[in-house]
Amino acid sequence: MRIKFLGLLIASVLVAYYIYAPIPDNVEDQWKLMLFDAFLRTVGHVATIAEKLGFGNYMDVMMKITTMEYTPPVSDEKVIVTDTKFNDVPVRLYIPKGQPDSLKRAMIYFHGGGWCVGAAGMKPYDSLSRWTSEKLNAVVVSVEYRLAPKYHFPTQFEDAYAVVKYFLQSSVLDQYNIDSRRICVSGDSAGGNLAAAVTQQLLHDPDVKIKLKVQVLLYPALQTIDLDLPSYRENANMPVLSKSLMVRFWSQYFTNDTSLKEAMETNQHGPTELSGLYKFVNWSHWLPERFKKGHIYIAPSHGSSKFVQKYPGLLDPRAAPLLADETKLRGLPLTYICTCQHDVLRDDGIMYASRLREAGVPVIHEHVEDAIHGAIMFTTSPLILSAGQRMANNYINWLNENL
Ligand SMILES: *[C@@H]1O[C@H](CO)[C@@H](O)[C@H](O)[C@H]1NC(C)=O
Ligand SMILES: *[C@@H]1O[C@H](CO)[C@@H](O)[C@H](O)[C@H]1NC(C)=O
Repeated sequence: MRIKFLGLLIASVLVAYYIYAPIPDNVEDQWKLMLFDAFLRTVGHVATIAEKLGFGNYMDVMMKITTMEYTPPVSDEKVIVTDTKFNDVPVRLYIPKGQPDSLKRAMIYFHGGGWCVGAAGMKPYDSLSRWTSEKLNAVVVSVEYRLAPKYHFPTQFEDAYAVVKYFLQSSVLDQYNIDSRRICVSGDSAGGNLAAAVTQQLLHDPDVKIKLKVQVLLYPALQTIDLDLPSYRENANMPVLSKSLMVRFWSQYFTNDTSLKEAMETNQHGPTELSGLYKFVNWSHWLPERFKKGHIYIAPSHGSSKFVQKYPGLLDPRAAPLLADETKLRGLPLTYICTCQHDVLRDDGIMYASRLREAGVPVIHEHVEDAIHGAIMFTTSPLILSAGQRMANNYINWLNENL
């Protein structure tokens, strides 16, 4: 009897420990989030073991979640949904059925997933695109760019850019009855990274005459060289996106070589010669007081130059848009940046807002105090979070007024 009781006690403690996640008090839906996080951590552990045993890459296992959530392109009474290709890159296309004769707005969307997982056809993204198309009477092009670890930078960026270049041609826009003055790019997380990078690149591309009206960056990842920001420190173990997972995503964007990941974990992947670039990500300078509170700035301790020599993408603004100098930021379109308080990537977005403002770019910064990373994904069952619903509503309402 005693033994059984003891066994039960130990088992409960283990389960409690496993389910327990440090979820901040102001976040609603605590239990849902804890269970979801326990599920994600389980998949993460399986992935780690599979990789250690030589059954493939960590991301192969993580990708199973994406595959599980795949939904085929199905039209409904409001939106026609098809899978097609633009410039040889697969896209999922959403065309609204309402007001067929009026000129439409358009959005090119890049899904998140750390450049390694995720898909336009994943249920939460499919729902978001469908909803965007219907609410804004907009054609939505959701890009199925190629993923790491099979493909590394700059493939993801190049796929994204190829779609944008194809789409921003008068002949293509006419075909879909789109108003060329009302087009935006949007993306979340790694997709926000691609949206920001594409928007910078377009500004100086003489081949593209049609300009974007708006860029939307939802909790974007924007820089590689300082992974010890206050937001990384405060949210290192937050559900959905831990620091270690973000480090894995960043390093796998560039390489399969795990030594980059190890150096990134201790923030020792950048060499001294970069000192000119550190000023662009100096959080002590770019963050408002309330986000710096209680933190002491430690300039990244410089490692050798071997990583940036091997992986020059680390310093390329197409991978790290925050590393662009001011001349590359001036003239960018109206920007909507959404950041979440409990997110390792929070300070990337806030610093970009500061830098864009300094460069004279109009910026709307929406900061969600009670949200975790990925919130906008959690607007479909089984996991619906109130912060995600609020974020999605604000996003669509803002676009409805400004696009
Ligand atoms: C990296 O790993 C992936 C998956 O294991 C593989 O498909 C890819 O070819 C590798 N890339 C390189 C450059 O070795
Ligand atoms: C970072 O910014 C702070 C505050 O503006 C400044 O005192 C410090 O010298 C800067 N450090 C680096 C490495 O740029």
